[in-house]
Amino acid sequence: MKVLMLNGSRKEHGCTYTALNLVGEELNKNGIDYEIVHVGKDALNGSIGALVKQVSEKLKESDGLVIGSPVYFAGPSAELKAVLDRIFMSCEKDLRLKPAAAVASARRAGTTATLDVLNKYLSYTEMPIVTSRYWNMVHGFTPEDVLKDEEGVQIMRVLGQNMAWILKSFDAAKKAGIQPPEAVTKTFTNFIS
Ligand SMILES: Cc1cc2nc3c(=O)[nH]c(=O)nc-3n(C[C@H](O)[C@H](O)[C@H](O)COP(=O)(O)O)c2cc1C
Repeated sequence: MKVLMLNGSRKEHGCTYTALNLVGEELNKNGIDYEIVHVGKDALNGSIGALVKQVSEKLKESDGLVIGSPVYFAGPSAELKAVLDRIFMSCEKDLRLKPAAAVASARRAGTTATLDVLNKYLSYTEMPIVTSRYWNMVHGFTPEDVLKDEEGVQIMRVLGQNMAWILKSFDAAKKAGIQPPEAVTKTFTNFIS
């Protein structure tokens, strides 16, 4: 089994990356692979089409998803949002019913507002949201700061353990012949007609 992780930071190996790897280490301990795709670096440099294609291909092979973002002005990075808007509009069948989580990294504030935005992508698409022992956040300006945030480190580790358990449970259910509910044809209404 494999979990796809998206790093929405412009810094490839910063705080968000550190947090995602803490989650990944727990997945690895449970025999589950993970891969981090850095979507924050190039999304707004004219490469969004190639990035969306790359992520959509990787989603097909993934059993779970973790979205990580630094907090920029109390919200997710614009780069990550640009990619998510495209992916969640076009890859619904490869997202639906896959366990998923969002993670935020901030120096100080704006984590819960960021998580609210990110979790809405997951719940729009019938993704079971995996939780931890607190909201999924770490604090720091550098990777070293994040590793000193003992509570944040524990939150990431518990998240990884919970995701591993849920992935294994889904796998066991599949092997036992428990069928997922079929996707519905969506009814769209608006408030005009
Ligand atoms: C453009 C920009 C805006 C930021 N806005 C906030 C903010 O609103 N609140 C906060 O606590 N930190 C803010 N920060 C700091 C980062 O969120 C924080 O250092 C984060 O852990 C960096 O993660 P990274 O190393 O993965 O990029 C901002 C940083 C940048 C570059």
